[in-house]
Amino acid sequence: MPVTQPRHAASRPAALSVAVPLGLLFTAAASLGALAAAPVAEPVTPPVPAAALRLPAPDVAQQPVADPCGDAGVQAALASGDDEAAIAAFGGGEAFRAAVTTGNAPCISLSDPARLWVVVNKGRPLSPVDFVPASLQPYQVRSTSPSDDVRPEVAQALAAMAAASQGAGAGVLGANNGYRSYGLQQSTYADYVRDLGQQEADAGSARPGHSEHQTGLAVDLVACDDGCGGLDDFGGTAQGRWVAEHAWEFGFIVRYESGATGTTGYAPEPWHLRYIGPQLAAAYHHGGYRSLEDFFGLPPAPDYPF
Ligand code: DAL
Ligand code: ZN
Repeated sequence: MPVTQPRHAASRPAALSVAVPLGLLFTAAASLGALAAAPVAEPVTPPVPAAALRLPAPDVAQQPVADPCGDAGVQAALASGDDEAAIAAFGGGEAFRAAVTTGNAPCISLSDPARLWVVVNKGRPLSPVDFVPASLQPYQVRSTSPSDDVRPEVAQALAAMAAASQGAGAGVLGANNGYRSYGLQQSTYADYVRDLGQQEADAGSARPGHSEHQTGLAVDLVACDDGCGGLDDFGGTAQGRWVAEHAWEFGFIVRYESGATGTTGYAPEPWHLRYIGPQLAAAYHHGGYRSLEDFFGLPPAPDYPF
């Protein structure tokens, strides 16, 4: 590869009101009285099969909200820019996804580049095209390039993930680059075209105004030991394998998976992580999704429409 980097609440069910005829209540009370007088057998609890003990407990704590955009908690969270609180007020990541895909979330725009749920691809450029995140800070992991800014919540999640990787014995995670301005993406893409030709460039580098890196929510990872490897090596390292399995626990997804090129428009990039926050990442992981387009029910974006 001739190109060097950087390239890169509660539930609110409607109250149930059931009218029960008084006669029925008396009959039920009489039956209960008879039951109370009868001798009571000791309850027998059947043993839980060992296999069932290993199954994850279903998450029943969160329920979808009937009209999420009319919900005061959702409205307040959106107004304050607290995306995680907004998702929680929807009833969690899966409830949020379901509301968006069924058209029950008109207050949610997948085009807002400041939101955790923004979807950027070859058919969905950033708007405005020269968008700059309101807040950026350098990430706190080993860096192999000067473009090491990300949004603060991404820096925090990345540090936690790197610590966990090391703690698990998978090795040190470093990052190659994070936020890329419209201008940096312009020169990055131009380098690709110069080195590889446009067709191959378009399989590996977004055109300016079409890169997730411009949102401050994407980061490219490398595996470090004494030194750090490159992007192309990452998928084959212990760190790469660990990240593929655990990134969702920290709010990240591997955005360009193998087998999803026809949907994402890009060759697999095991190193390119996109932050969508822990609730959406958990829904993505548990739902077995392989692309953000499928997750949100959007059309595939294999090519630019022009
Ligand atoms: N390499 C990814 C597709 C980007 O340039 O944003
Ligand atoms: Zn990337």
